[in-house]
Amino acid sequence: MRSLLSLLALLSATTLAAAVPAPSSTIKAASSTTASGGSSSVSGPGTTLQSGYLWIRAVEAPNFHKYLQTKPEYSPGTAILDSYTTAGQFQIVSGQLVQLIGGGGLLYANVEQNTTAAVKLAVSFNETKNIYGTFIFSGDAVTWSTPDIKRPNLSAWLVCANQQLFINLGNYDYMTPAGCADETIHYYNDKTAVS
Ligand SMILES: *[C@@H]1O[C@H](CO)[C@@H](O)[C@H](O)[C@H]1NC(C)=O
Ligand SMILES: *[C@@H]1O[C@H](CO)[C@@H](O)[C@H](O)[C@H]1NC(C)=O
Ligand SMILES: *[C@@H]1O[C@H](CO)[C@@H](O)[C@H](O)[C@H]1NC(C)=O
Repeated sequence: MRSLLSLLALLSATTLAAAVPAPSSTIKAASSTTASGGSSSVSGPGTTLQSGYLWIRAVEAPNFHKYLQTKPEYSPGTAILDSYTTAGQFQIVSGQLVQLIGGGGLLYANVEQNTTAAVKLAVSFNETKNIYGTFIFSGDAVTWSTPDIKRPNLSAWLVCANQQLFINLGNYDYMTPAGCADETIHYYNDKTAVS
């Protein structure tokens, strides 16, 4: 309380004029952006990282600094890795990989269930929570695990046709499925996504 009062005193006494530009730039940074290219426009959280959220990106060729996002952007759909200019904003909360979309809405990464010896599992974002397995950060790496599959490397992912992201149930960089590239994906918490 004392610091608030002294801040107010400071503002009214000397720096009111200097403080005026701050609110408008704050509002600009927090406002939504509109995705272009589609017939309907979808709003997202913008190109400045919102408090409590993270970028997620791959660090290996050929997807070096390609960022996690959905297709279509900010909407329920397939998880892909693509340009930093359309990067989504994420957090892992209670085992759920959550994407922030426009208006404070959330999407959840849903993992395809397949008990018949698949080598990879698709991931899509949905308005409903994931019911299969658990996401967790290991250091800065995104991992996924489930008690019913023994994965040799919980950080192993694949990026296949159309930049689609999959959980790699095999070893990293070993018997890579045709048309796919091995990747690990990591959070990045600088204000803006970069290539
Ligand atoms: C979202 O969940 C519903 C209900 O499980 C499912 O029918 C639908 O295919 C899911 N959509 C995506 C994009 O995963
Ligand atoms: C499960 O995975 C196997 C092997 O990849 C595939 O052939 C099969 O179509 C998948 N089943 C479902 C229901 O997705
Ligand atoms: C999984 O693979 C990545 C990429 O090679 C490696 O950095 C990481 O140490 C591996 N993790 C384990 C548990 O083997």
